[in-house]
Amino acid sequence: MSDASRPIAILGGTGPAGMGIALRWARAGETIIIGSRDAHRAQETADKIKERAGNQTRISGMDNAAACAAANTLVLTVPFESQAALLKQLKPAIRSGSILIDATVALAASVGGRASRTLGVWQGSSAQQAAELVPKGVNVVAAFHNLSAELLDGDDALDCDVIVCGDDPDASQIVRKLAAKIPGVRAIDGGKLENARILEQMTALLIGLNTRHKGHGGIRITGLPPQAYE
Ligand SMILES: NC(=O)c1ccc[n+]([C@@H]2O[C@H](COP(=O)([O-])OP(=O)(O)OC[C@H]3O[C@@H](n4cnc5c(N)ncnc54)[C@H](OP(=O)(O)O)[C@@H]3O)[C@@H](O)[C@H]2O)c1
Repeated sequence: MSDASRPIAILGGTGPAGMGIALRWARAGETIIIGSRDAHRAQETADKIKERAGNQTRISGMDNAAACAAANTLVLTVPFESQAALLKQLKPAIRSGSILIDATVALAASVGGRASRTLGVWQGSSAQQAAELVPKGVNVVAAFHNLSAELLDGDDALDCDVIVCGDDPDASQIVRKLAAKIPGVRAIDGGKLENARILEQMTALLIGLNTRHKGHGGIRITGLPPQAYE
């Protein structure tokens, strides 16, 4: 299920990760709200995406709190070091029953270390930390950690799979259907939210590989039965 008339808010959607996802979903016919700390910057970003995706696309920009209030599917694409503070600030604006898709990665770069290493997060992962901070009745689903923003910001189909982890099967399925709307992406059920820690570590590995080999690597999971791929 995904209802194109129901907006998807991308919090921190002015950065490369959020913009890339917004561009692909806007092209796929989804209604997108770019969220930012600054409503003006959000609108500018939305206008840029509209220019690329076409005039018929439904995309607007708002401050993060207004974006949460206007949507019940939220995507969090902010640096790990700002994730907890932002979620605490937005808690009153997040609607009960929403899905929060967490794409943040606890990279050591957040505290001045390497982007090819992750930080230990007390809860196990950035996504599990998010799950402790959202209002009751909000399902956190981890996804999109392993998609490169550079690849999303293009016109070609991606050659990548997206592993989706979450504790609520219905919320996970909605997110898999949304992920599969990105051309070239196959979405795979990766089990419980606790597996997000592995997804985040895979991102650090991919960043290291991309630096070493000067590319934009993604992942493909082979050998599962066809029904495992959305
Ligand atoms: N880049 C990638 O290829 C990629 C791929 C997968 C996952 N990720 C993950 O996705 C997240 C976003 O990545 P990115 O490269 O797009 O990051 P980014 O450009 O550093 O940040 C994204 C947006 O977050 C907002 N932000 C920054 N500091 C903030 C703060 N202190 N409080 C609230 N909002 C703040 C900013 O929006 P405003 O200033 O407009 O509020 C910014 O445009 C990261 O956790 C990253 O690990 C990135």
